[in-house]
Amino acid sequence: MSQPCDVVVLLSGTGSNLQALIDSTATGDSPVRISAVISNRADAYGLQRARDAGIATRTLDHKAFEGREAFDAALVELIDTFNPKLVVLAGFMRILSAGFVRHYQGRLLNIHPSLLPKYKGLHTHQRALDAGDREHGCSVHFVTEELDGGPLVVQAVIPVELHDSAQSLAHRVHAQEHRIYPMAVRWFAQGRLSLGEQGAMLDGQLLAASGHLIRN
Ligand code: GRF
Repeated sequence: MSQPCDVVVLLSGTGSNLQALIDSTATGDSPVRISAVISNRADAYGLQRARDAGIATRTLDHKAFEGREAFDAALVELIDTFNPKLVVLAGFMRILSAGFVRHYQGRLLNIHPSLLPKYKGLHTHQRALDAGDREHGCSVHFVTEELDGGPLVVQAVIPVELHDSAQSLAHRVHAQEHRIYPMAVRWFAQGRLSLGEQGAMLDGQLLAASGHLIRN
């Protein structure tokens, strides 16, 4: 097999998406190798998950820096010591500067708990309920300078049930995140997924604006 694709994961919290990625690489023949997990919070449980899996961890506390630019510059420096082909945001609760995003253009993925372009930002499940949406879901996208706005790679759609709460929706959406994020990362590692001038490309074809759509 050719060299695996080195991936650095950034997170701030629980890291259930990291866990899904770790589990998906456990097969031995995975094209994905998670070389490091970096958090801006030392108490992020995701760091423990990484340690348990024998993955290198680093903490870079944003509060120790004067401003976003300085933190992001240090973050780039730290990430690049691992020389990753792909950087994966998995619940990294920081807005990234334009310089950071440009540095990793075409090799920076994010997952967001809504059917983008709907509900950028926070409280997505409650907002979907408040709007009376019949469908909700999650999206993997390439990161560009627009917050939660880059070209979509894959979306998983779930029906909103009559008795759903924000919590029950979050639970079902999370299960879908754990399915589509490893899938997208694998595509990238296999060289099937890239960012073209007009959007995300899969197997040489421009993906639809919604990305690859999975309905449940
Ligand atoms: C997920 O809901 C993801 O969509 C969002 O942050 C959350 C991270 O969850 N970007 P976890 O830490 O992976 O459990």
